Amino acid sequence: MKRIVYVASECVPFIKTGGLADVVGTLPKIFDKKEYDVRIIIPNYKCIPSKYRDKMKFISNFQMDIGNHSQYVGIMYMEYEGVPVYFIDNEYYFSGLTPYTEDRWDIERFCFFSKAALSILPVVGFKPDIVHCHDWQAGMVPVYLKTLFAGNPFFSGIRSIMTIHNLRFKGIWDVEHLKYCTGLPDYLFTPDKLEIHRDASMLKGGLVYADKITTVSETYAREIQTPFYGEGLDGLLQARHQSLVGIVNGIDYDVYNPEKDRKLAKTYNVTNFKKNKVMNKTALQKELGLPVDKNQFVLGIISRLTDQKGLDLVDAVMNDICQDGVQFIVLGTGDPKYENMFRYYQGIHPAKVSANIYFSDALSHKMYGGCDAILVPSRFEPCGLTQLMALRYGSLPIVRETGGLKDTVIPYNEFEQTGTGFSFANYDAKELLNTINYAKSVFYNQKKSWEDMQVRAMNMDYSWANSAKKYEQLYQ
Ligand code: GLC
Repeated sequence: MKRIVYVASECVPFIKTGGLADVVGTLPKIFDKKEYDVRIIIPNYKCIPSKYRDKMKFISNFQMDIGNHSQYVGIMYMEYEGVPVYFIDNEYYFSGLTPYTEDRWDIERFCFFSKAALSILPVVGFKPDIVHCHDWQAGMVPVYLKTLFAGNPFFSGIRSIMTIHNLRFKGIWDVEHLKYCTGLPDYLFTPDKLEIHRDASMLKGGLVYADKITTVSETYAREIQTPFYGEGLDGLLQARHQSLVGIVNGIDYDVYNPEKDRKLAKTYNVTNFKKNKVMNKTALQKELGLPVDKNQFVLGIISRLTDQKGLDLVDAVMNDICQDGVQFIVLGTGDPKYENMFRYYQGIHPAKVSANIYFSDALSHKMYGGCDAILVPSRFEPCGLTQLMALRYGSLPIVRETGGLKDTVIPYNEFEQTGTGFSFANYDAKELLNTINYAKSVFYNQKKSWEDMQVRAMNMDYSWANSAKKYEQLYQ
């Protein structure tokens, strides 16, 4: 029996801002309970919906010293779909309206969280073989394990894994602040350990001290060893390449299942989609106030609206994209400059563009069901989940060949009649436009090829089963 504990800042269904939450909330469910005891630790944010908070049980509390201050640590607990989840309670740190606030304060909050996550283990009586840490918010866990906690017999022999979901966020602030927040000694704040360009990074700490490092696709695992994608940590990642593996994410095939999805106007599967899928398109057009026309090529973006996602490319060619025969639907929130950009295009092309600047799980499902293609032109993409959902729903992904996008979407080859979507290599707006126009021409002029591609897309298997096997090998 292997015992594993996940430490993370997000987890579906409790709290989510991005794909990290999907991975942390779905992967632990996949492992065979006879061989794996996998548990999760996240903060007890006040903004977790009360329907979950009401079900939590109080387990214990204690005071924890961290540097020259002391903090309350409460332990709340709940079993969710068979997985034990611990919530670290502390009102001072976790009572905000959102899981993240501003960097300096977040650094203090997640240093506290990292230390508390380890400190509750003896209290709840769970000694894991492996602590599996996700992103910078859990980056100090491997550091604490190998330093402050190393002399404590309870923690001896515990291994750690650091998983990178996104290398852009590193948990960086000045050295003095990090020393205050962690209570760790001076010798850790050197360039071979936590220091990065005279500041200190929590993620770097995790990458230096973890026994193994993973990231969420094979291509991203290679890319981050190069300067363009390495975010200043490419040298360290090269040096640790023997401990680094890429394991592509899966998605929850029960939640994302066009055959059972109650959010769809009409459910469908790989045998009846030619007749049924289009009803989702017209329902979507109606709901969003676009002209209802089943023959239109409907393109969707479902994304956090940030620089990572390639939206400056979209901006550069948006007027060219909005030609005859295209409708463009956006769903997401993020950087105001992109939110306003899509509002602006909706203003000038009201019959073609629908900008939905909010978060809606229901609308995202309706878009996977109703769109013909889903656009993911990212500058970098560790894995990307939307293209996996798009494949499952037979909405063909149009992606840039980077990270997990490259590993999961097979570009259409019209001579061999292979492929599951469309892709372009360079971060270049003209390439993006050409690729969209190519997809559009296949949609309008090679209907049979398009439908065959939908069949291949829907038959791909990006459930967690394959990836979970790779995590099992790593855990063993
Ligand atoms: C981050 C990455 C995304 C990845 C997700 C889950 O959100 O940006 O590419 O799919 O984490 O690993």
